[in-house]
Amino acid sequence: MNRLQNKVAIITGSGAGIGKEIATAYAKEGASVVIADFNEEALQSTVSELTESGYSAFGVKVNIANEEDVQKMVSSTIEHFGRIDILVNNAGVGDNMQAAANVEDDVWNRVMNINVTGVMRCIRQVLPHFEKNGSGTIVNMASLAGVMGGRGGLTYTAAKHAVVGMTKNVASHYGPLGIRSNAIAPGHVETGFSAAMNNIDPFGMKQSTRGVGMMTRAGQVTDISNIALFLASDESSLINGIVVTADGGWSAY
Ligand SMILES: NC(=O)c1ccc[n+]([C@@H]2O[C@H](COP(=O)([O-])OP(=O)(O)OC[C@H]3O[C@@H](n4cnc5c(N)ncnc54)[C@H](O)[C@@H]3O)[C@@H](O)[C@H]2O)c1
Repeated sequence: MNRLQNKVAIITGSGAGIGKEIATAYAKEGASVVIADFNEEALQSTVSELTESGYSAFGVKVNIANEEDVQKMVSSTIEHFGRIDILVNNAGVGDNMQAAANVEDDVWNRVMNINVTGVMRCIRQVLPHFEKNGSGTIVNMASLAGVMGGRGGLTYTAAKHAVVGMTKNVASHYGPLGIRSNAIAPGHVETGFSAAMNNIDPFGMKQSTRGVGMMTRAGQVTDISNIALFLASDESSLINGIVVTADGGWSAY
């Protein structure tokens, strides 16, 4: 029940989907949680649900691709809760499954700005606080597309590979300072993620979903929040720089 007692966690993209479930799981384990999302309505409703259940939560509207927003997210967390112990880089968007020949510049730029630059901005702003504390944990939401070649469009695949690279780089450089950085690579999880993509590239979709039947079942948000809880808690204190794949065996095929 108290695996994250007295910890303060920022979870990006926690107004909905996987991030919301991670925030709820952390709050239930005693953490104070920061609901950071660019969808104001969703973040406010998540904050209300959590506080009405007696948990400690506050919300901040942030586009993680915007440096000023990220600075505000971190400074308001310090003002509100006094410290930061955990950063979950969960916010991310899809690329409409565009195969290499069909990549559109605006899609490339949006996905890279959010899924790569946004993750870097959050890590960069939080690390000085972790260094000051002599401890801290980062959980990055990669994807099966971050460890395999053909499970998404070109841009999303490149972006999530970058997330895996950042995960390992930070673990390597900052591990000696008491800071951990790990990632989760979900296969398919039932959220609003796919529905948010429009104008899907049929060729990219067809190629990316070959072998999808090898998943024993689709993931649920709790499958991922359980892993995120383990990676944020002291139970995983010897684990640094890994990627946990959660895909129902899809990549084992
Ligand atoms: N659902 C899946 O099948 C799946 C599989 C692998 C990886 N993932 C990854 O998991 C993460 C969460 O996905 P989900 O399925 O919960 O998606 P979702 O669309 O249900 O929720 C994402 C949340 O992030 C927020 N968000 C998006 N861009 C943002 C930004 N720039 N700044 C702040 N908030 C932002 C959205 O408003 C939304 O509340 C993403 O990084 C995604 O790439 C999802």
